[in-house]
Amino acid sequence: MGINPRGIEFSGQTLDEYKPEWSWDNKTHYWLQKRIGGRSCLNFPCGMSHLGTRADLDPAVDPEIMADITQPLSFFEPLSYDVVLCDPPFDFYYMDENRVPFPATPWIRELVQIAREEVIFSTPNRALHLKRKDWSKEYYLTEVKGSGFIRMWQIFKRQNKTLLAFDDDK
Ligand SMILES: C[S@@+](CC[C@H](N)C(=O)[O-])C[C@H]1O[C@@H](n2cnc3c(N)ncnc32)[C@H](O)[C@@H]1O
Repeated sequence: MGINPRGIEFSGQTLDEYKPEWSWDNKTHYWLQKRIGGRSCLNFPCGMSHLGTRADLDPAVDPEIMADITQPLSFFEPLSYDVVLCDPPFDFYYMDENRVPFPATPWIRELVQIAREEVIFSTPNRALHLKRKDWSKEYYLTEVKGSGFIRMWQIFKRQNKTLLAFDDDK
């Protein structure tokens, strides 16, 4: 174990020096960067990563916006970013008052409302579900070189454009 210059504990097991073990490696970063392209992106919670607009609750990671992932709509307007990128502590996927597992977590239902086009979740290997009429889903796996760790991504694309059409009419 060690402490990086921002005071965050890291395991020292990843190839990227001074990064906590949950932090994305460069290859993952590049893959996400390419996927997001020129679109606006909310990276929430951002941790150490530097893609898009960075939001997190921990001041140690220098977020642009201090925000709590358990109450997304208290901090961000619906449909305010093209893409929302979300890599929370995995416990959060199971978190509600009764610890009901996927897909019942209320913060996920709030978070997806912020995205105009796409929501990218880094998840444990349990399926996330959103309403099929509103969202299509794709799965991706990325391999963290050198560690043997495989990361799962669940990417939802917005199908229901009604709210967007209404916005355009204004
Ligand atoms: C798995 S890490 C994100 C790693 C990031 N993708 C990277 O590459 O560095 C999870 C992040 O969630 C943040 N976090 C924990 N609880 C939070 C909360 N309630 N609201 C917002 N962020 C939170 C932590 O500060 C941490 O930065």
